[in-house]
Amino acid sequence: MSKNKLAKFALMATYPHVFQPEIHHFDSSHPQGDFPLRGNWAKDFFGNENPIVVELGCGHGDYAVGLARQFPEKNFIGVDIKGARMYSGAKESLEEGLKNVAFLRTRIELIAQFFAQNEVSEIWITFPDPQMKKRNKRLTSSSFLLQYARFLKPDGVIHLKTDSPFLYTYTTLLLEKNGIAPELVSDDLYHRPVADERQQEELTSIQTHYEKQWLGRGLSIKYLRFRPLPEGASYEEPEEEIEFDAYRSYGREKRTPQQSGK
Ligand SMILES: C[S@@+](CC[C@H](N)C(=O)[O-])C[C@H]1O[C@@H](n2cnc3c(N)ncnc32)[C@H](O)[C@@H]1O
Repeated sequence: MSKNKLAKFALMATYPHVFQPEIHHFDSSHPQGDFPLRGNWAKDFFGNENPIVVELGCGHGDYAVGLARQFPEKNFIGVDIKGARMYSGAKESLEEGLKNVAFLRTRIELIAQFFAQNEVSEIWITFPDPQMKKRNKRLTSSSFLLQYARFLKPDGVIHLKTDSPFLYTYTTLLLEKNGIAPELVSDDLYHRPVADERQQEELTSIQTHYEKQWLGRGLSIKYLRFRPLPEGASYEEPEEEIEFDAYRSYGREKRTPQQSGK
């Protein structure tokens, strides 16, 4: 590991709003790992009862930090496995004294172990890898939606922002197949706004690291807001074949540095 990364990790270990639980305490051999803030984020960390919003795959954390600035009456938790990326949002929010943002470094596959039933009001999924070849790794696949329902409030919502026509089509078909009507939708957020002007402004005033890059390349940004099926429900996966994104290579070795995020 580079010296630079080591220095970032050492600093992050001292940050009071960054949590980096040992993964092996929460893996399949310890499915009931006891994360102390599970069920206690409001009381023991944020110190208020404001709604909790989780961003999955937060990368550099700039979106979680931007949302925290914009919505001081909500609490935000950015989740990612890559500590060196998360460091920038963690550092910025600490230096700015933001009290309504935290970071959790873990694998999203384990996410239901870090939040109790009804603890979370909203989930943001921002520019995830579409995982065109591996359905179960898609962050909007039914296996993930079932996990999210374990800790999302009954009226809680999921927001997806993506550049990927593949992931957008897949998610739209999955919702359709399971009778879920999205509450807000745009297949080109910056050119075909959602109906409500205030919401449109909220959705476009902050851009993630990847969003800026994709916009810079002239790609359209797609957005869906929906409520998943309740905990314990079962989903049917769509059977349609979906065209792969032409601009994205899906073998890691073929990726450009921009795509691999290095
Ligand atoms: C394409 S980047 C997008 C980052 C950020 N949301 C943005 O828009 O700039 C995807 C992020 O998801 C994270 N990620 C992907 N799969 C993950 C998983 N299973 N658990 C935790 N993080 C994951 C990666 O580490 C990466 O930072």
